[in-house]
Amino acid sequence: MKLSRILSNQNGISRRQANFLLAAGRVRVDGEICREGNLDISRFREVCIDQEVIQHAEPAYYLMLNKPAGYLSATEDPVHPTVLELIPSALRHLLHIGGRLDRASTGLLILSSDGLWTRRLTEPRVKIPKVYRVNTAYPICPNTAERFSEGIWFEYEKLRTSPARLEQLGPTEARLTIYEGRYHQVKRMFHAVGNRVTSLHRESMGGLTLDPALAVGCYRPLTVDEISSVC
Ligand code: URA
Repeated sequence: MKLSRILSNQNGISRRQANFLLAAGRVRVDGEICREGNLDISRFREVCIDQEVIQHAEPAYYLMLNKPAGYLSATEDPVHPTVLELIPSALRHLLHIGGRLDRASTGLLILSSDGLWTRRLTEPRVKIPKVYRVNTAYPICPNTAERFSEGIWFEYEKLRTSPARLEQLGPTEARLTIYEGRYHQVKRMFHAVGNRVTSLHRESMGGLTLDPALAVGCYRPLTVDEISSVC
């Protein structure tokens, strides 16, 4: 919500008075004087007029999880275990998943209570690179990298995928960087070139890289730098 709106939502403060308080330097956001009424302020920031807190900062959670195979990227499911079962129950209902992984896929999964932040991570327009290590059923053809860099036509959505980068690591192993997160995107790209993905592991999303110290099925909070790498 805009800062001026937060101020004028207070009992007895008009728009005009809100502008006056801002101009007079009497408004602080997270302890810093703020004069910009147009600024978007999330519910995770504290707003004060003089010494009085008018918006308490809600605690925000930003986590990375090393997803095991067999877990659904969903909040609940009657059949399969879900990734949220790997998180303490007190936090579960607060968290959004930032970029799902298929049940069999493993690796970096981001969870946060800050919906705007997670949306920035997954917004197709933003073109954040997502890096996957892929194993395939058949040897990867020499022209696959070129086909992926030209984009693959997805008939269902009637669109061409953004140019992707394939680095071959072995006859049936590669590292693939894509810039969107369409439904089963990696599997469908390999299917389009006559191959089949047998295992898929996400290594990174933008500035967020799976911590090698994080055991499978474990999570940790993101650092301040990791959080601010998503802007
Ligand atoms: N692409 C897929 O096909 N599966 C995933 O889990 C992630 C990307």
